[in-house]
This record gives sequence, structure tokens and C-alpha cells, in this order.
Amino acid sequence: MKALVLIGGFGTRLRPVTYSVPKQLIPLAGKPMLYHVLDLLPPDVEEVALATGYKSDLIEAYVRAHPPRWPVTTVPEAEPLGTGGGMKNAGGGMSDPFYLLNSDVIASVDLGALAARQAGHGGLGTMTLTEVEDPRPYGVAALDEHDRITAFVEKPEPARAPSRWINAGISVWHREVLDAIPGGRPASFEQEVLPQLLERGVYGFRYTGFWDDAGTPARLLRSQQLLFDAGRGGKGTVPSGTFGTGPVALMPGATVRGASFGKYVTVGANAVVEAGAYVENSVLMEGVQVDRDATVVGSILGPKARVHPGHRVTGQVLAEHGEA
Ligand code: GTP
Repeated sequence: MKALVLIGGFGTRLRPVTYSVPKQLIPLAGKPMLYHVLDLLPPDVEEVALATGYKSDLIEAYVRAHPPRWPVTTVPEAEPLGTGGGMKNAGGGMSDPFYLLNSDVIASVDLGALAARQAGHGGLGTMTLTEVEDPRPYGVAALDEHDRITAFVEKPEPARAPSRWINAGISVWHREVLDAIPGGRPASFEQEVLPQLLERGVYGFRYTGFWDDAGTPARLLRSQQLLFDAGRGGKGTVPSGTFGTGPVALMPGATVRGASFGKYVTVGANAVVEAGAYVENSVLMEGVQVDRDATVVGSILGPKARVHPGHRVTGQVLAEHGEA
């Protein structure tokens, strides 16, 4: 099977970091969000098409420098085509069926089991569904007794949500789905295309493991916690020569001697955390500088951002080269 990954969004909710870096390259628990998504793919996937748009050149360069285990091609959009348009644009060479992944969801879905479920019912597609407390920000499925999806409501009012099972952004589809998407113009797959496909047999695959959509600062940090707790980052310790609890994921070239760490920290490539500084529940991107006795808690610091000696940063998102 092949896989199509949607990675063309602007990541507006993670500005100002995403003014210079696509959100999928933000490291969580020591590696970019995109690579945690790719990790879901079975080893025998033949090819991955990245449907890119915003900052496509940065994604392509990163993937070239850090090749994943599967052959990857990038298929950029000149203008944002939305999720449906992105599928149509990049789906030409897809297998039948193929995997479709959002590039900002953190989960441990078994894609082999998802594909087996698809083969078992013979419908057009199978969507992973995850149960959430508050389905309002998501696409919500109504299901019959065979878990066939009978309706799909995007971002419903509380009283109109048909269930608490939402689109987890991980699905498998027959190629025919691409014929249902209008070509040459933007289209939302979830809002414009999916409702028309339900009568052709779209099934839910109920998934109960960890899941989050890393699209906002709070959810991104929660996603990092989930990944660490699932053992996908550093161990529950701090690097040698430092103090505190961890876990801390150190990326290549990071320098942290004499610093202290609370839980859930990524220290990006070539970042420096000086002696006496304290960092907890945060992502420090490439080249960040946290000076002596500074404190960083619950924050995302963009590339080469700097926190000056003794300064405190709590619950902030700093742009590339941002200062505090
Ligand atoms: P926000 O701007 O913060 O809402 O983030 P986003 O742009 O990523 O939007 P959203 O989280 O709704 O997108 C869901 C998935 O679809 C993500 O994996 C996006 O990268 C992807 N996506 C959104 N719009 C497009 C698009 O126009 N083209 C392509 N190829 N992918 C898209």
C-alpha cells in the first residue's frame, strides 16, 4: 500500500512559530511531529506522498536531509487546495486502497488493523474514530450497529453532535474516492466530499489509545506528554550533568550542563540551556538560547529564540529569533 499525508496547512494556531517553520517540523519528544505520524506506517508501505503547500521547500529539504524509512515524494500545491484538493493533487499514483493521514495527529493506531477492517467490509473507506469529551472542534460521526458511518457533522453545536466519536485524521480509502473530489480548485474533503460518499459505505474504526491533534500550543505540549508517556521520547531521567526529573529529549548538538529540568522537555538541535536555568513542559527548537538562571515553563520557543539571564517565560510561543 501507499500513503498520502496532508501537510499543506498554514498552522495559523501555532503562530508566531509557524510564520517561519511549518508545524510538522516542530520537534516533540525529540523528533519532528511529521516523523511521529510517519512512524504509524507499516514497514512495507511502498511510497509516501506528502501533499505540501505552505513552506513546502522546508519540508522537502528536511525530509531529504533526514530520509524516513519509506520512499517519500513531495507534491506541492501552488495555491492551498484544502484537504480534498490536496488529496486530488497528490493522489495520482496512489495504491488501491491507500492510507490517508493528517500530519498533525499524535496516536498509536495500528494501520495494519485499519486496513484489515477496510478489507473486511468492502466499502469505500474506513476512518479511525477516537472518543473525546468535547467533540465541538472536530468532525463527529454518527454510526449504525455495524459501525457504518451514517452521518458526519463538522464542528457541531453541542446539542447537534451525533456522538463523541470524532475523525482522528487517519483513514484508508479506495482510489475511487479521488474521482469524487472536484479538480483544479480548493475543496474540503470533510465538509464538501465526505457527506456524499457515505452512501457508498464508509465505516468507523474505533480506536481507544492515546490521541491528540497537535494544532494549538496547549495541545502540542499535551501531545508531547503523550509521546513521552508512551515511551517515544527520552527516558524518565535528565541528561548527565543536569538536575531534576525529566524526561528530556536532547537533539544533536544541544548543550545543557548545569541546568535543571522538570517533566516533558525537548531541547532542539544546537540549543543551549545554561547553568542555573530551569525548563519544564516545553519545546525549545533549533538553536534556542536559555541563559543563566532563566525559567521556561509550558512554552514553545521558535528557532534561535533567546531567554535572557534570570527572565521567566511561562505559557508563551516565541517566534524565530524571538526574545524574552
Ligand atoms: P490551522 O491553520 O492552525 O487551522 O492549521 P492547519 O492549516 O494545519 O489546518 P488543519 O489543522 O485543519 O489541517 C488538517 C490537516 O490538513 C493538516 O495535516 C494540514 O497540514 C492539512 N491541510 C490543511 N489545509 C491544507 C491544504 O490546503 N492543502 C494540503 N495539502 N493540506 C492541508
